[in-house]
Amino acid sequence: MIIAANFKTNLTRQKTAEYMAVLEAFLEKEGVTQEVMVFPPATALDRFDGRTQVGTQNAYPTRNGAFTGELGLEQLEEFGTDTILIGHSERRHVMGESQEEIARKFSFYKEKGFTIVYCIGEPLEVREAGNDALMDYLEAQLEGIDLHYKKLVIAYEPVWAIGTGLTPSLGDIELIHAALKQRVAKPLLYGGSVKVDNAREILALQHVDGILVGSGALAVEDFCRMIRDAETLHKGE
Ligand code: PGA
Repeated sequence: MIIAANFKTNLTRQKTAEYMAVLEAFLEKEGVTQEVMVFPPATALDRFDGRTQVGTQNAYPTRNGAFTGELGLEQLEEFGTDTILIGHSERRHVMGESQEEIARKFSFYKEKGFTIVYCIGEPLEVREAGNDALMDYLEAQLEGIDLHYKKLVIAYEPVWAIGTGLTPSLGDIELIHAALKQRVAKPLLYGGSVKVDNAREILALQHVDGILVGSGALAVEDFCRMIRDAETLHKGE
């Protein structure tokens, strides 16, 4: 399973370093075998000792150049960062990234061999319009994306579940994941209001290969508890 934390615009460089030290000590002590990823803010990117895959929350499809406020490949290479989140709902809906821009980013970082955690998810009005509308919406978010890319991970994150404390029912997560799995044969994470209290039951669902956690992972102790859930489920405990 893949257990991933997205810090968004939270924690500083100093706090991230402290977080990583606690996390790595935990992984080592417990002999964790699951894949763990952390996406800190850009200012906290660094080479950390240990086995966590540290990724960037965003980057521009360029090596370098005149793109004020953006990061390119050159800045990521400095820290050995080779994992990226693309298509996150906040990039799509708050920053207004179009599917075309997202697909361009995807192609660029695919070309560079990055592990790409590619996010999709529908807003509430689409969910309320029924299953066909929902699947059509998700399908449109896959446009221009190479679904056979070796290092692709998909994260299904309903927009209305992100940061709201709301989640789809377990049955709905299972249904949507089953449908998505038929479409894309890649690891499929669930994201949107995953917390210590519900991580285990979500991770236990069929077709859920991991979780992408935002606010629920900001305290490292909580993130470690979710990793432990994944580890014990994996062992059948
Ligand atoms: P949340 O965010 O866990 O705070 O809902 C998840 C995400 O946006 O990746």
